[in-house]
Amino acid sequence: MPSPAPHDRLPLAFGGDYNPEQWPREVWEEDVRLMREAGVTAVSLGVFSWARLEPRPGAYDWEWLDTVIGLLHGAGIAVNLGTPTVVPPAWFYRAHPDALPVTREGVRLAFGSRGAICHSNPEYRAAATTITRALAERYGSHPAVVLWHVHNEYGAPVLACYCDVCAAAFRGWLRERYDTLDALNHAWGTAFWGQQYGDWEEITPPRATPSVCNPTQQLDYHRFADAQARANFVAERDILHRLSPGVPVTTNFMVAPSQGQTVDYWAWAKEVDLVTNDHYLMTDGRRTHVNLALAADLTRSVAGGGPWLLLEHATSGVNWQPYNPAKRPGEMARNSLGHVARGSEGAMFFQWRQSQSGAEKFHTAMLANSGTDNRGWREVTDLGRRVAGLADLRGTRTRGDVAMVWSWDSWWAQSLEWRPSQDLDARERLDSFYEALYDRHLTVDFLPPTGLGDLDPERYPLLVVPQLYSAPVGVGADLERYVARGGTLLVSFFSGIVDENDTLHPGAYPGALRDVLGLTVEEFDPLLPGETVSVRGADGSSYTADLWSEVVLPGAGCETVAVFADGRTAGGAALTRHAVGSGTAWYLATRLTGADLATVVDLALADAGITPVDLPRDVELVVREGESGTFRFAVNHTGSEVKVVLPDGSRAAVPAGGVEVFRDPR
Ligand code: GLA
Ligand code: ZN
Repeated sequence: MPSPAPHDRLPLAFGGDYNPEQWPREVWEEDVRLMREAGVTAVSLGVFSWARLEPRPGAYDWEWLDTVIGLLHGAGIAVNLGTPTVVPPAWFYRAHPDALPVTREGVRLAFGSRGAICHSNPEYRAAATTITRALAERYGSHPAVVLWHVHNEYGAPVLACYCDVCAAAFRGWLRERYDTLDALNHAWGTAFWGQQYGDWEEITPPRATPSVCNPTQQLDYHRFADAQARANFVAERDILHRLSPGVPVTTNFMVAPSQGQTVDYWAWAKEVDLVTNDHYLMTDGRRTHVNLALAADLTRSVAGGGPWLLLEHATSGVNWQPYNPAKRPGEMARNSLGHVARGSEGAMFFQWRQSQSGAEKFHTAMLANSGTDNRGWREVTDLGRRVAGLADLRGTRTRGDVAMVWSWDSWWAQSLEWRPSQDLDARERLDSFYEALYDRHLTVDFLPPTGLGDLDPERYPLLVVPQLYSAPVGVGADLERYVARGGTLLVSFFSGIVDENDTLHPGAYPGALRDVLGLTVEEFDPLLPGETVSVRGADGSSYTADLWSEVVLPGAGCETVAVFADGRTAGGAALTRHAVGSGTAWYLATRLTGADLATVVDLALADAGITPVDLPRDVELVVREGESGTFRFAVNHTGSEVKVVLPDGSRAAVPAGGVEVFRDPR
């Protein structure tokens, strides 16, 4: 368990990843001088420094790091000290080539990048804990070290390894989970395609198979890979807790990428002392600031609503997307303060100084290769001043207005092959429902699909379930309790279908949610690419839907609010409303987007008694409150000045593209 390490010594953070090992000594003094000029209060140091710290096995070189930490401490800059275990040195791999991970196809990945780690490899585990112990012994009580940064972005770029060592570890993990082979055979449904196991030793990782590999086997392997990485984090964390008491331990999360192998941040957040996150704007044609808000809300949510820290974002363009546009003037500050509005205790960047070589030399930084006479530097120093001016909002909490359910485990399960449509995408539904709420200027708190029965409808009058394919037994009853006590629930299609073993809930779809929604689904009828259907509301409204239709049979007490007006399921219910106790449960049986989805969300908001704030599109109003006061962040993503109404009825201007923080009078 995490020690109750306070993060009191961590200032409201402004700074970035600092990689002095890429530079000669002369540059370090200049770095520290310019950091002071920019208002830097904290840096993340040593994240990739293993080869420099231990150039030969067991021979440590501390002198350079002593010097750098001393320089930073002398300048009053706090250190978030990295354990460099995401990149073991070349000599380590030469001695232990088996520590390199193996893909599903059996390809062993090579050294020369980063994150090439088999998390089950005993030599890697021993080496990682040894370097961590050495660092903790040397710097554990250094007054500059206020936070430990373990590893880097666990799960990226590779989470799972499929080597023989992992295979053996997987069998051990399965024995713990299932106890008996009978239980495993049952959970995996091995009666299908004759997969029954008669001996634990017959079980292998879900390596490349001729056709689709058993989905439960794949899902369990993802869980196993997550657990292996987490165990390695915990091993490092426990050493740091022992040798560096009182200094909190974190590892930088990446809560919101829309694809790729992820870890389960609900589980990871329980293991860190302070949740930290990395966020980068995606250039994918969507409204990137909405994704930023979602990432910040989700990070705060995994942190239990408490403080968290944005550990990395970019001053301007990144260099790992196909196209990497620069941020517009003012956009960096708007992004940084947008995270602060949603609970971050500061804003940190990758990285302090732009690299001159290596894979990320085109990635922008706080200090560009061209020096300080440029817009970027001027904006960085301005932002440093602004962050300093917000110092007393530390410890205040952002208040969420509505709640939404998100499960990484369900997302993994749904993302496996051979679903009714290959275009089903839980992340897309999450993004779209979030966007609809964002457009009503509502702040979202995310919740895991557990303990929902205790959710207070007064605190969260609306609960949205965008797509919860896999619903553990009990979720339906929990949701029913929430609704019966006055909550408004909005569930969208392909939810409540399977249990945690990817096994269909017994009876008609949507197994786990039939009772609370008051309906059954007789048949799925996914739409083809490009195919749309019309949906018509009883009030005359009409919508255009795509991707999904199904045959819904509303039960007694379940009202049909809109029907499929054409298509193969014409005449059947597309939107229903079921009164349960003093609340209502809505069900949307198809995919709506944009204004159409917003209209449906508005119906549920009206039921929940939530009157949206009157503000222009792309203007955020987010409130942080606590002992030091109430701070209202108005974030204006539009190209014109806007006016916001403050609690005293006065109207205040927020410049085009700007952010204003209004403090309630005490
Ligand atoms: C990630 C990593 C950093 C750096 C940035 C670049 O977040 O943690 O080391 O590679 O991306 O955007
Ligand atoms: Zn392995």
